[in-house]
Amino acid sequence: MTPQQDRHDPRTAPWLDRAAQTATRKLGEYGAFFRTAVRNPRMVGAATPTSAAVAATVAQVVPTTGSPVVVELGPGTGSLSNGIHERLPHGARHIGIELGEGMVEHLREHKPWLEVVHADAGDLLALLDKLGIAQVDAVISSIPWSLMPGDAQDHVLHQAAAALSPQGAFTALTYLPAGQTPGGRRFRNRLEHVFDEVLTHTTWRNVPPILHYICRRPLR
Ligand SMILES: C[S@@+](CC[C@H](N)C(=O)[O-])C[C@H]1O[C@@H](n2cnc3c(N)ncnc32)[C@H](O)[C@@H]1O
Repeated sequence: MTPQQDRHDPRTAPWLDRAAQTATRKLGEYGAFFRTAVRNPRMVGAATPTSAAVAATVAQVVPTTGSPVVVELGPGTGSLSNGIHERLPHGARHIGIELGEGMVEHLREHKPWLEVVHADAGDLLALLDKLGIAQVDAVISSIPWSLMPGDAQDHVLHQAAAALSPQGAFTALTYLPAGQTPGGRRFRNRLEHVFDEVLTHTTWRNVPPILHYICRRPLR
């Protein structure tokens, strides 16, 4: 086969290689996610990672200048992490606090730029102290808030609020239907007690749709 023929042969075309690489990467990501979700459904609270549309919305609170610190609570296999990473300026810190061991292994292998901490979001302030971080510019959380008991919601929320810089933003994701469950309603109520400003946004391009809370100005 000549190089000319080779370019037009779908079996050897570069796009086919790229498509195969993307499919392999996606399968690896879904596999790691799904295995942890099956073993511990309440901890993961989802069967698949969130979509690129959700990641694009989440990334909007990420500062693009200075040396910001961004913390992700529950990065999973990192479906939100790439969008955050792409916006961050050189010199920023991007920390992921993840409880699932399989997720942590996946992140360490595939997202070497992420500072992955295998820990509970409930230990946020102590973890930041260990990392030498006094304040953070954004906390992006996708832990299963609506499945958590009220005291656990409060425990993490108060630490996230205490860690934020004065201009900082706290964001939380839940499934839109989960917002109507007792746990989801309790979470919204807690947010309004902890933050002066609580905005919402829905991303419809995810199954199921995602409800974003974007919160600022902790009520100290
Ligand atoms: C719904 S998944 C979201 C994953 C990913 N961010 C996404 O959007 O696809 C929730 C993630 O939070 C992690 N998680 C649950 N509770 C946690 C906790 N207390 N501390 C840290 N991670 C937690 C789970 O292991 C899981 O990876």
